Amino acid sequence: MAASPSRPASVPVIVPVTSPEERGRCLTGIAGLDNILDGGIPRGNMVLLAGSVGTGKTTLSLEFLVRGAERGERSMFLSVTEASAKLIENLSSFEFFKKELMESGLLTFVDVPTIYDKLGMDQEELSVDDIDLLIRTIGGLVKELGVRRMVLDSLTSVCYRIRREERIRDFLLRLGRTLSELHCTTILVSEFGSTAGRYSLHGVEEAIVDGVILLGNTRRQGDILRVLQVIKMRATSHSRAQYVMELTPIGLLMAPHLKGGRPEAS
Ligand SMILES: Nc1ncnc2c1ncn2[C@@H]1O[C@H](COP(=O)(O)OP(=O)(O)OP(=O)(O)O)[C@@H](O)[C@H]1O
Ligand SMILES: [Mg+2]
Repeated sequence: MAASPSRPASVPVIVPVTSPEERGRCLTGIAGLDNILDGGIPRGNMVLLAGSVGTGKTTLSLEFLVRGAERGERSMFLSVTEASAKLIENLSSFEFFKKELMESGLLTFVDVPTIYDKLGMDQEELSVDDIDLLIRTIGGLVKELGVRRMVLDSLTSVCYRIRREERIRDFLLRLGRTLSELHCTTILVSEFGSTAGRYSLHGVEEAIVDGVILLGNTRRQGDILRVLQVIKMRATSHSRAQYVMELTPIGLLMAPHLKGGRPEAS
């Protein structure tokens, strides 16, 4: 008689400890985006937020952190390109921002150039040891502060100093592993639109990260509209359509990109 293909009842089914269901979702809190992502970013994912200049990368990242802090999740913004004081000043013009979130320690800003200075990273190109120290420092901050949401603005600036492709690959793999183990959901800003099918400085970045969200501009009847599209997001189904993204005082708003009365094919 042929052996039964079904598993005997006595053999336990092994469920991976990090299944998306167990890890849960990190609700971005950005109107419309959680629906696009079928319930939010799978917790612990590292997501590349790519877009050319002025497409809203920093604003989306800041709202992601503010919405998390409002839910009691510790949130940290690692700023490379803009001084924190200036970012906070801009953020203050949005109605959704509340200063108490910073006073209570739920929302923290850290200037990466200060980290470089403190760690004595004064060479233009970061060495293997520097990269190792940078990962351990970021991981240490996340662990010490209990950070559940983090933004690095921008990954591109850090990659300019890492320079070599194989080191960028190693940096991202190790950073991703460290942050995921700490259940920290991360947005890495990439200052690239989808030029030549690439979303990052070297093109390896998007292959390593768990998700890619693309911001861009499109023209409609003489206006330039901001648009958002989820290119990939591991561990969840998601819409691949293009959405119009509006920056309003109460936060970002997503709406289907209509063309001739129908959502435009992406
Ligand atoms: N407080 C605000 N209220 C309304 N609109 C704003 C506000 N701050 C920024 N914007 C709009 O968003 C645009 C830039 O947004 P943001 O800084 O998030 O983009 P970015 O993609 O991070 O830009 P960059 O590539 O320069 O870093 C501005 O040009 C402006 O049109
Ligand atoms: Mg920016």
